[in-house]
Amino acid sequence: MFITFEGPDGSGKTTQLNSLVPVLEQQGLDVIRTREPGGTEIGDQIRSVIMDMKNKSMHPRAEILLFCASRAQLVEELIRPSLAAGKIILCDRYADSTMAYQGYGHGLDRKVLGDLLDFATGGLKPDLTLLFDIPSEAGLRRRLSNHEEWNRMDDYALQFHERVRSGYLELAAKEPERWVIIDANRPKDVIHEEVVAILKDKIKK
Ligand code: TYD
Repeated sequence: MFITFEGPDGSGKTTQLNSLVPVLEQQGLDVIRTREPGGTEIGDQIRSVIMDMKNKSMHPRAEILLFCASRAQLVEELIRPSLAAGKIILCDRYADSTMAYQGYGHGLDRKVLGDLLDFATGGLKPDLTLLFDIPSEAGLRRRLSNHEEWNRMDDYALQFHERVRSGYLELAAKEPERWVIIDANRPKDVIHEEVVAILKDKIKK
């Protein structure tokens, strides 16, 4: 089973992924944890190019192709072989992140992006996608908790993150059988219980 964790920055999805792993392992399941961009040696090299502060002039099209290159490698090197071996893969971000951030957030052509994502993943879709949904301002304030004043850049960031958030909700509405929306603006223990219940239910099926 291939499960992805999606959501805006500051939604707490990585914390939830990490606390789910031991629960599944206790049930005797073979769990693989990975993340994007990265997850393979080649993918981690690509990740450092994407994240490098020196690369401020990177064009959005170049950035997308790098995300896709990292993803193509991850699918072939790790995800498909692990699925074939009957493992459970928990992946922190996947193709939906590109649609939400580059498509809805940065306004790039979503039809073209969809074709590109199909090419990069060879059409591999998650069995289940958990969306950790949080109002953009709450997510941003969580990340900027040391900031004293909200400034113009924060405002810009807020608008971007609102587009990302509503993009995610639109994606989830288009494929309700794949997505589960989780209210991430609650204490993490409460969210954890909900995630465990969703997984137990899904694995039973
Ligand atoms: P990361 O440090 O992994 O943060 P997070 O914990 O939020 O996942 O940074 C990943 C950043 O890259 C995050 O802001 C989302 C963005 N991103 C895209 O814009 N497009 C993509 O396809 C992916 C995978 C990530």
